[in-house]
Amino acid sequence: MSSSSSVSVVSGATARLLPGGPVADEVLAEVAASVARLRAAGVTPALATVLVGDDDASAGYIRIKQRQAAELGFASPHVHLPASASQADLHAVVADFNADSGVHGVLVQHPIPGGLDYDRALAEVDPDKDVDGMHPVNMGRLALGLPGPLPCTPAGIEALLAFHRVPVSGREVVVLGRGATLGRPLAMLLAQKRPTANAAVTVVHTGVADWPRYTRRAEILVAAAGVPGIVRPEHVRPGAVVVGGGVRYEGRRLLPDVDESCARVAGAITPRVGGVGPTTVAMLFRNAVRAAQRQTGLG
Ligand SMILES: NC(=O)c1ccc[n+]([C@@H]2O[C@H](COP(=O)([O-])OP(=O)(O)OC[C@H]3O[C@@H](n4cnc5c(N)ncnc54)[C@H](OP(=O)(O)O)[C@@H]3O)[C@@H](O)[C@H]2O)c1
Repeated sequence: MSSSSSVSVVSGATARLLPGGPVADEVLAEVAASVARLRAAGVTPALATVLVGDDDASAGYIRIKQRQAAELGFASPHVHLPASASQADLHAVVADFNADSGVHGVLVQHPIPGGLDYDRALAEVDPDKDVDGMHPVNMGRLALGLPGPLPCTPAGIEALLAFHRVPVSGREVVVLGRGATLGRPLAMLLAQKRPTANAAVTVVHTGVADWPRYTRRAEILVAAAGVPGIVRPEHVRPGAVVVGGGVRYEGRRLLPDVDESCARVAGAITPRVGGVGPTTVAMLFRNAVRAAQRQTGLG
């Protein structure tokens, strides 16, 4: 067993680890520099957050994002609605932030209480202020290759592969899962004509009963199913790069899609904790600062 950062801690494993922390650090350093330039030009970029209800985990995520926003130099106006808030109440808060030219990004914390419709609230956010990159207009921009905020987790995975010098262009990528948050936008992103993408992408899901046939030939395999332990060593091509995007939480326990024993077969693999997650948060702030740059014409 080794605790080296370059070798997996799974017994008998030789896979190189692909941590997300250094990727996030690099992205956030660029964000901080961009924020400093905006502030020097008289603009304080503002990322507004909306929390509905009293879910402890969601409140915790908001606190972390606000702390990080402050460290990076963002203003972070916040509205906390009670769990009894109506859909119209939520839309009214979003509309206020949309109309406020001093607010450049808007984040509605997911999940929101049952009875409220998150997708409808997201659709109310001004697409140019959508820091999650998940607004239907931004998914359309992604499909068309138009500029706009990118969905954070797929963008984080592209950045992670680029940072660790994993060649993607021309290679066979298989994505397990076609969900709207991860698998589907990631497939679109990695198929785009750019040096850090440009891949032959296949997407598999429950409609493909024999999906291991595809994953076993993948040079890069991305797990995006949200089914703990679904990816096992026998599903991985020896020497392949394995990215664990899908996770499920049971209480505070994080259960990843990729079984740790895959590190015995893979050539490189994201760690169980500190892989894709940190890159997702970094991309949120990158979207926020880029939104401020676009809206102000600065930077
Ligand atoms: N690490 C991060 O920072 C981060 C951020 C965001 C999301 N995530 C995680 O990413 C995962 C995906 O999220 P999402 O919203 O995009 O997906 P989703 O809507 O939950 O969809 C999951 C996908 O996986 C497929 N799938 C599920 N079980 C399968 C099985 N047994 N065999 C084959 N395919 C199977 C489903 O196929 P069908 O379409 O056929 O049902 C579906 O396409 C979740 O675990 C989420 O927690 C992680």
